[in-house]
Amino acid sequence: MSYSVVPVAEVHLEGLHHALDVVARERRYLAFTQAPALETSLAFYRNIIAGDLCQFVALEGRTVVGWCDILPTHGEARSHVGHLGIGLIPTARHKGLGARLLEATIAKAHTKGLTRIELAVRTDNTNAKALYMRFGFLVEAVQQRSVRIDGEYHDVYAMALLL
Ligand SMILES: CC(C)(COP(=O)(O)OP(=O)(O)OC[C@H]1O[C@@H](n2cnc3c(N)ncnc32)[C@H](O)[C@@H]1OP(=O)(O)O)[C@@H](O)C(=O)NCCC(=O)NCCS
Repeated sequence: MSYSVVPVAEVHLEGLHHALDVVARERRYLAFTQAPALETSLAFYRNIIAGDLCQFVALEGRTVVGWCDILPTHGEARSHVGHLGIGLIPTARHKGLGARLLEATIAKAHTKGLTRIELAVRTDNTNAKALYMRFGFLVEAVQQRSVRIDGEYHDVYAMALLL
């Protein structure tokens, strides 16, 4: 089955919610430990589509296996800043899809006039951090005990890319 990376569309939304749920339930990569309720997710994604915001999905055939988004932060003074999130279900990792998703999403963010992309990644998420570094993201800070899952704290890198 071949892989593709395309802008998010209505037809992807249930699959996108499922992919988010799969990654969230791994309990080690995302702030979520499960996806929000389907209706909540659908409203969130439809807002992205309606606003032509930066979100791409990775597909295996027609099945959504991952996503990347760079979404606006609040406030006029922060209108040049986007926050990046990315995830692939386990079987879709290590195939270059993370890089393809980042490339597409960052390119769109650039055309939208964003000049700073921020993200947060756990310090033990070496795969994701290496990918971000390859794209030019720099570590700006270590946020101690930023995440707590099952009673265990984890530190997080605050990273940013200037466009
Ligand atoms: C972070 C994440 C999106 C990275 O995606 P990815 O596709 O695995 O990343 P890459 O595209 O960089 O590929 C990673 C590895 O696959 C290798 N690779 C790249 N293209 C490849 C290809 N066509 N065939 C085989 N391997 C390939 C890369 O060389 C790299 O190898 P390395 O880890 O030994 O250096 C993915 O691991 C993921 O979803 N993780 C869980 C969620 C998560 O961490 N989200 C981020 C939270 S901040």
